[in-house]
Amino acid sequence: MAGSERPLHVLIVCLGNICRSPMGHAVMEHEAKKKGLNLVVDSAGTAAYHEGEEPDERTVATCKKHGVPIDHLARAVVQNDFKTFDYILASDTQNLENLRRVAPKGSKAKIALFGSFDDNKPIQDPYYGGMRGFEKTYEQCVQYSHAFFDYVSANGSPTASL
Ligand code: 4NP
Repeated sequence: MAGSERPLHVLIVCLGNICRSPMGHAVMEHEAKKKGLNLVVDSAGTAAYHEGEEPDERTVATCKKHGVPIDHLARAVVQNDFKTFDYILASDTQNLENLRRVAPKGSKAKIALFGSFDDNKPIQDPYYGGMRGFEKTYEQCVQYSHAFFDYVSANGSPTASL
């Protein structure tokens, strides 16, 4: 429910923060806007080696093809993210495990696989493949964003509102 409460904060995470998570970030923001949902979305990587870079050109091209605005510079996950965000959603199980390993004790954020609100599948790394992998990533991001919205609408959030 939109109101004066703090909006729900969601961080989407992959490895490099140049392919999957900036796309998930852009797609979730776009889908939330279309539904009139009040949401703060960001993305980050569990690795820092692409820090400061723009999203991969194939991520940008896929977003452009689907009319999804994208504007992000890669960054790594930081400890403060576990305080700032209500949900931290991992693209695959390796990133999920890494997030759980680095999460501080008593972390407020709920850490989950992005696909866990739907078919529980990982978003495979499209970096070393062609455009089809990026299209599949886009489709999963749309599907999982809506499944996440449905979950939060049905279950609420202990710390924020949709
Ligand atoms: P992402 O994809 O985790 O979806 O951003 C990757 C980007 C870069 C690399 C691996 C995955 N890399 O090895 O440089």
